[in-house]
Amino acid sequence: MVAQVYSVAFQGIEVLEINVQVQTSAGLPAFHIVGLGDKAVAESRERIRASFHTLGLALPSKHITVNLAPADVQKEGSHYDLPIALGLMVMMGILSSEDIAEYTALGELGLDGSLAPVSGILPAAIEAASVGRGLICPASCGSEAAWASDLQILAAPNLLSLVNHFKGTQVLSPPGVKIPDFTASTSIDYCDIKGQEMAKRALEIAAAGGHNLIMIGPPGAGKSMLASRLSTILPPLTASEALEVTMIHSLSGTLPEEGLIRARPFRDPHHSASLPAMIGGGMRSKPGEISLAHLGVLFLDELPEFNRSTLEALRQPLESGRAVVARANAHITYPARIQVIAAMNPCRCGYYGDPSRECARTPRCAQEYQHKISGPLLDRFDISLEVPEVKAYDLLTDTPRERSADICARVMRALTLQQNRYKRFSSKMSVLINAVADGDILHQVATPDTEGLALLATAMEKFKITGRGYHRILRVARTIADLEESETIKRHHIAEALGYLSIPLQN
Ligand SMILES: Nc1ncnc2c1ncn2[C@@H]1O[C@H](COP(=O)(O)OP(=O)(O)OP(=O)(O)O)[C@@H](O)[C@H]1O
Ligand SMILES: [Mg+2]
Repeated sequence: MVAQVYSVAFQGIEVLEINVQVQTSAGLPAFHIVGLGDKAVAESRERIRASFHTLGLALPSKHITVNLAPADVQKEGSHYDLPIALGLMVMMGILSSEDIAEYTALGELGLDGSLAPVSGILPAAIEAASVGRGLICPASCGSEAAWASDLQILAAPNLLSLVNHFKGTQVLSPPGVKIPDFTASTSIDYCDIKGQEMAKRALEIAAAGGHNLIMIGPPGAGKSMLASRLSTILPPLTASEALEVTMIHSLSGTLPEEGLIRARPFRDPHHSASLPAMIGGGMRSKPGEISLAHLGVLFLDELPEFNRSTLEALRQPLESGRAVVARANAHITYPARIQVIAAMNPCRCGYYGDPSRECARTPRCAQEYQHKISGPLLDRFDISLEVPEVKAYDLLTDTPRERSADICARVMRALTLQQNRYKRFSSKMSVLINAVADGDILHQVATPDTEGLALLATAMEKFKITGRGYHRILRVARTIADLEESETIKRHHIAEALGYLSIPLQN
């Protein structure tokens, strides 16, 4: 006889059904797990042996074989402990195979028989619900699983309570959904920033059109402060977007206690972040920073300090909105539709262009520093912006400043306009925002009026603007017009967009 328990494996955010088969046969006592498991799966044996010992059970002194089918799919993680233990209990006659046939199980066992939380509960719960099964998971993951509707959840604190539940001596009550406190306002707001009106305006445009933005300026100008507040002017996630983001964070094990993410992600990885940490993958396949920032903001502070290969690896996901990680026998894809905000100093000492403070190596210092960023990467930023030092007058005076909520209202109006406009192109566009409009679509929606065209033609000739630069101007001008709720792109929209074309980098 073979006991069968359903579990799951993850490939990106895809969930694969895994059939955990347990068989005991006559022969020398042994315990083998086959089916391409990693080290965590191999170590499962010792955790199961110890937790059974705690329950006063001894493993059958037979030849135990566990097969994780399909056997050619790589299995990673400690969540197979629970399905293997349940299968063994069926073989030992403690549970009946009917008890567990209707469930998908995942959870890590402690040596004392307790069930420890594992990642990926929400995608597993959604998958189980879609095939009409229930879910057996650790108690601490119950509220996360409860976000998947229409499924029976057994969230057990330990193995014993699970056995008691099936024996009918204890009832595991279904876990409830913990509603996050949506009313709790974040403590940061654009009104904290004194002066820097130009920069605030540029960030508003970036938010309204989903444009990538790069800031360059001396230390202490407020670049990090400006960027960290961007998520306060972005619209909240829709219900389906929230679920998408939550699934990714569930896989990486970074979900908050209430088990649902409602605010747009804001990720600011340190510049020492490795390539797998940024893009995904590594020892165990996990989403990288760009996927954890999916549908939100990735802030690259001190851009030139990042490893060059890490930065270059960002180019492809920025275009496609997906991070593809190559594994030994598969390609795993994680969603990564992000808005990138980058900040940098003009040179290593930080004060290039300020005659009173710049270092003796000027301009070489700036050239070397800025050349760490490649042209193709810079091309991905629709908006480039210089952030000068904050003026003493602005710091000393306390004039009333606009709050993030007011800016957010304007951003949301502009985004609604874009959605209505791009609806007819929805088969060709991944997202209905100006930042991804290109080629023919861009020409149809963003051709300026006669005066605007005349200004654009003059500027293109004078500043030797390339084809890509031209498209960037049109996209940004479209967003500026949308913020004004103007369908026509006028001369002053083009004029403002020209100002965001490029930062005067050193050649
Ligand atoms: N416009 C401003 N209004 C209010 N406070 C400011 C402003 N600019 C800077 N500050 C203050 O200066 C501190 C440093 O700002 P921030 O870290 O954003 O600078 P930065 O431009 O990122 O500098 P660096 O290049 O060194 O990273 C902030 O924490 C804040 O207290
Ligand atoms: Mg900074």
